[in-house]
Amino acid sequence: MIRSRVIGTGAALPETIVTNDDLAKRVDTSDEWIRERSGIRQRHFVKEGEKTSDLALAASRAALKDAGIDAGELDMVICCTTTPDETFPATATVVQARLGMTRGAAFDLQAVCSGFIYGLSVADNMIRGGQAKTVLVIGAESMSRLLDFNDRTTCVLFGDGAGAVVLQAHHGKGDNTDQGILNTQLFSDGRLHDMLYVDGGPSSTRTTGFLRMQGKEVFRHAVTNISAAISASADAAGIPISDIDWFVPHQANQRILDGTAKKLGIPAERVVSTVALHGNTSAASVPLALETAVRDGRIKKGDLVLLEAMGGGFTWGAALIRW
Ligand code: UT7
Repeated sequence: MIRSRVIGTGAALPETIVTNDDLAKRVDTSDEWIRERSGIRQRHFVKEGEKTSDLALAASRAALKDAGIDAGELDMVICCTTTPDETFPATATVVQARLGMTRGAAFDLQAVCSGFIYGLSVADNMIRGGQAKTVLVIGAESMSRLLDFNDRTTCVLFGDGAGAVVLQAHHGKGDNTDQGILNTQLFSDGRLHDMLYVDGGPSSTRTTGFLRMQGKEVFRHAVTNISAAISASADAAGIPISDIDWFVPHQANQRILDGTAKKLGIPAERVVSTVALHGNTSAASVPLALETAVRDGRIKKGDLVLLEAMGGGFTWGAALIRW
């Protein structure tokens, strides 16, 4: 059986760090409120002229270097983003060109905060179906470009960044001791559109629009949906949740991470949390957190790693990987 193994990870953050106190100078908020309600202490924002593709490219180069391969070996680039450089062409094609990759295919994938989980699922299916051997999956966002700095309920929560992984086809036995992606679970419910959306777009307003969110409602659904996705992934692999070594969640709110861990009986020390430093970076949040835990040595070869996310749409999902 063909398995998609992660052979490299990379990440990139814009240089500019924006603290809660910095934001309190722009909107009616406080460091105390933001930390207590979300766990966020700071986030990174792109500077004028810095684009999503710049972050995506830096993360991709780091992932390729970590994998020890050249861009010419890639068959496919999937850029998961909700903040592309332009409405078209896909930011993935900008990255493809800047990596010097002249073959294969590149496209964007839009599933907001669940984008990276969706991207991993598509890449895994492309690899197992034989259409690609080596795929770069990127989560990259400039969420600060969608923020309304007159809306304190949303503008304090989001940040910018990018993370990337290189997946490659390897033969496995077909059981859950195989290295690589063991399963992915994807879900969506379009009826919940109004709880988290951007009030603009090419075919509606011909503008980019601003992010709008009913935070309390999103919060309530997040714990339920994420818990269900984790359970679905563990069930599909035929393992108890207690066998999973590391949980790498979408970093929206520390209280969501804590609530989900409590609901499923997961010890807090197995949950990778970067929300304090990055804020909610949408599709970039899972690969940024993943890279942090790989780089600091927490995630080791052979570990079972569960990635999960939920976001606008609603979309949600999970991916179980044997590292
Ligand atoms: O990535 C997609 C997934 N996104 C999420 O998962 C986000 C989910 N939601 C959340 O993280 C939380 O709901 C928030 C952090 C957005 C809000 O936390 P909350 O505990 O649900 O607060 P709230 O919305 O109920 O607001 C409580 C109070 C309100 O004042 P009153 O009505 O009690 O007087 C707000 O007006 O806090 C006020 N408030 C603020 N105060 C200071 C709202 N935003 C701010 C702010 N600074 N930035």
